[in-house]
Amino acid sequence: MRDTVSPSARASVSAMQRLLVTGGAGFIGSNFVRWLMANTDVSVVVLDKLTYAGNEDSLSDLPADRVQLVVGDICDAELVDSLVADTDAIVHFAAESHNDNSLNDPWPFVQTNIVGTYTLLQAARKHDTRIHHISTDEVYGDLELDDPDKFDESTPYNPSSPYSSSKGASDLLVRAWVRSFGVKATISNCSNNYGPYQHIEKFIPRQITNVLSGLRPKLYGTGENVRDWIHVDDHNSAVWTILNHGVIGETYLIGADGEKNNKEVIESILGLLGQPTDAYDLVTDRPGHDMRYAIDSSKLRAELGWKPKYRNFTEGLMATIDWYKANDSWWRPAKEATEAKYAKTGQ
Ligand code: NAD
Ligand code: TYD
Repeated sequence: MRDTVSPSARASVSAMQRLLVTGGAGFIGSNFVRWLMANTDVSVVVLDKLTYAGNEDSLSDLPADRVQLVVGDICDAELVDSLVADTDAIVHFAAESHNDNSLNDPWPFVQTNIVGTYTLLQAARKHDTRIHHISTDEVYGDLELDDPDKFDESTPYNPSSPYSSSKGASDLLVRAWVRSFGVKATISNCSNNYGPYQHIEKFIPRQITNVLSGLRPKLYGTGENVRDWIHVDDHNSAVWTILNHGVIGETYLIGADGEKNNKEVIESILGLLGQPTDAYDLVTDRPGHDMRYAIDSSKLRAELGWKPKYRNFTEGLMATIDWYKANDSWWRPAKEATEAKYAKTGQ
């Protein structure tokens, strides 16, 4: 812990009963709500627009007396105001989250990620409500493959895509609302998550469900690009730690030292599914494709005492594969449309 920080600067939700979780029907948000049910006593109101990426089924087995789903838009100021008035803290996951979609149609990214975050900040300001903003390491741009450095909290923002630039813009709004209006906010920037309930447009679940559907996995470009994988439960335990013990106005990077290139990941998926490890296609690269992400999470570890639990990527990947095998009815309805969208860009 830093000795320069007064106790009042730390936000504790230990007394909090009721959280507003935006985007709680998406991948990370629904896993966060599930994690809260297993590890805390809080009740949750999920605010989610149920876009193509949101799925009510991701929450359907959770206790109805502790989890309520409100279907609505974070850009709807009146709705947001009424929900924030009745909440102890906001955890803000809702976003348009897929780079490839942002290249084809940037507008929803500007609207949800920027205007939506603005709308939540205004409500948090009015009601003096604690807010934690979830962001991505992609705001920092990318690293060279042989760069010994990783991203840390002092890395300058340098986003590449409409997705990452809209997330960067939302982070800057949060910082300004802390400084100008005293909003009690923290920010976390996390690396690539994997685990259950991830939409099958994303890299890992796309390849798993391709193999399960008799389709060949698709690798963009040469597959050298590196992502720093973290299990979604480790991301969420970090978010809870920051919500409880983070210093207002601070940013924390979340990562689990999980760098792998895309080729290695595709080969692992094929191997774990009993297929030849070269049974994939090389497809059109993503324009502006970031080469490498890598997170230095030592601030979070040293100051707040967090550490990841999932240390073995292959085991986590196998459990994720097992989840997709066992939950065909969750992902199958989206498969055809997802692949049709990719086919249009030769991916
Ligand atoms: P996701 O696309 O799976 O889920 C997003 C959710 O937000 C969906 O349920 C969707 O319906 C909802 N939503 C979208 N627009 C909305 C709106 N206008 N109003 C209300 N709800 C809306 O995304 P995810 O992968 O779970 O990502 C969650 C957050 O974590 C995002 O802010 C993303 O930038 C961040 N993040 C993701 C990763 C990752 O690897 N997936 C890594 C770091 C940070
Ligand atoms: P993705 O899951 O879209 O996450 P992000 O763009 O936020 O990193 O992609 C992860 C990596 O996998 C990225 O380098 C792009 C690559 N990729 C493929 O090679 N094939 C695919 O089918 C997809 C969806 C992604």
